[in-house]
Amino acid sequence: MKIFKQLPKYAVVGVILLGLVLAVSKFFDNDKPTALVDVRVPELSALATRGERAFNANCAQCHGKNAAGTDKGPALVHQIYNPGHHGDQAFVIAAKQGVRAHHWTFGNMPPLPLVSGAQIAAIVKYVRELQAANGIVTKPHRM
Ligand code: HEC
Repeated sequence: MKIFKQLPKYAVVGVILLGLVLAVSKFFDNDKPTALVDVRVPELSALATRGERAFNANCAQCHGKNAAGTDKGPALVHQIYNPGHHGDQAFVIAAKQGVRAHHWTFGNMPPLPLVSGAQIAAIVKYVRELQAANGIVTKPHRM
């Protein structure tokens, strides 16, 4: 039957169409921030290494290994959290008071009163070193 002879042609056209649809949807997706990111891990300073330990113990369950995000919390290695938009104080406040969901749809972050100020300072250093290694640097706050 003729239709069978043409089947490969339909398959090729189908694959091309599918590719186009995927490419277009990916293009429009770019506006939405993605919570999960690929993180390049730099060589960490001593303070940041301590921060990594505290982060893994207290934050990684939601913010992910290397602060790359999970389905429970956003990546902190993300342009939204560049030092100009979320200064170091944002980390102190987040741990002390928790965070009301406002950038994402993960829900609220609970307060973490057991994390000390020294631990937070180390965590901030850790996250900033990860951010810098991934091209996330201070940008003025424009939101
Ligand atoms: C139970 C899950 C959970 C844990 C544990 C957690 N976070 Fe979060 N965190 C979240 C979620 C969810 C958000 C995003 C809220 C939003 O903006 O929608 C968030 C947001 C933040 C923000 C952004 C604050 C802002 O002003 O927008 C910082 C900074 C932060 N977390 C740091 C930390 C640090 C540091 C730790 C560990 C000491 C930690 N988080 C532990 C869930 C968590």
